[in-house]
Amino acid sequence: MILSMANISCIKNDKYILKGMNWTVEAGQHWAIVGLNGSGKTTLLNMLCGYVFPSGGDMSVLGRSFGSYDWRKLRRKIGIVSSSLQEKFYGGETALDIVTGGIFATIGLYDEPAKKHTKAAVLRLKQLNCHHLAHQAYSTLSQGEKQKVLIARALVNTPELLILDEPCAGLDIFARELLLNSIDQITRLKQAPTILYVSHHIEEILPVFNFSLLLRRGEVHSAGLSKQVLTQKNLSSFFETSVTMRWRNNRPWVEV
Ligand SMILES: Nc1ncnc2c1ncn2[C@@H]1O[C@H](COP(=O)(O)OP(=O)(O)OP(=O)(O)O)[C@@H](O)[C@H]1O
Ligand SMILES: [Mg+2]
Repeated sequence: MILSMANISCIKNDKYILKGMNWTVEAGQHWAIVGLNGSGKTTLLNMLCGYVFPSGGDMSVLGRSFGSYDWRKLRRKIGIVSSSLQEKFYGGETALDIVTGGIFATIGLYDEPAKKHTKAAVLRLKQLNCHHLAHQAYSTLSQGEKQKVLIARALVNTPELLILDEPCAGLDIFARELLLNSIDQITRLKQAPTILYVSHHIEEILPVFNFSLLLRRGEVHSAGLSKQVLTQKNLSSFFETSVTMRWRNNRPWVEV
């Protein structure tokens, strides 16, 4: 079991952000999470990382129950890339600095990186096909390159769970396909993490995302095998409007 949530809720300012949420993720599954703006996706991901606390219900992640384990320790096993993270890096830090920094950020060391750390960072940059950017200042990278560097950083400690919150936001259609290809490659690595992938764009749901969760107004609308969840009928019910859906190259394309 990678994670389980039983009757999880999150209340802020007397308002339910997440309500009665039941969800389980097992090893070997990769999940796409879809929901309109404000449906609670980022809150859900932040809760898994222990940045937001549940107001009720039970949650366990990577075999640890929330409330009876130090979540800071667990975070070492979770890699997260979210657009809010991007804004934290600027100035002259190189791509390599940023990826190497991932090792220290999650294990709380502030020493000079040893050779083995640099080696681990370079390996991740290579896996994301951006080794050539290692010595370029992060602030000068393109949006797509920045996203790859942040994914390399999230992977540097070989996490068991990788959370990607709208990684393709702001990318042109070609950069998007390149990044999706890199994400696909990650799932083929020897110690591949379980991936949770949030997007507004259904067509980004690669075949490797064999499970999908549709989140609406803080509640699970449907969850299960992507082939069963991502049907025209179910998506029309989810969006509360009639949509057309067709599978092309094993990916779902939706038109309003
Ligand atoms: N700390 C907070 N206090 C009050 N309301 C909050 C808080 N955090 C989130 N919310 C509200 O909870 C709702 C869900 O927010 P969240 O960021 O999880 O949505 P999202 O599904 O990630 O949306 P988007 O697709 O726009 O990123 C929003 O209405 C937001 O305003
Ligand atoms: Mg969000």
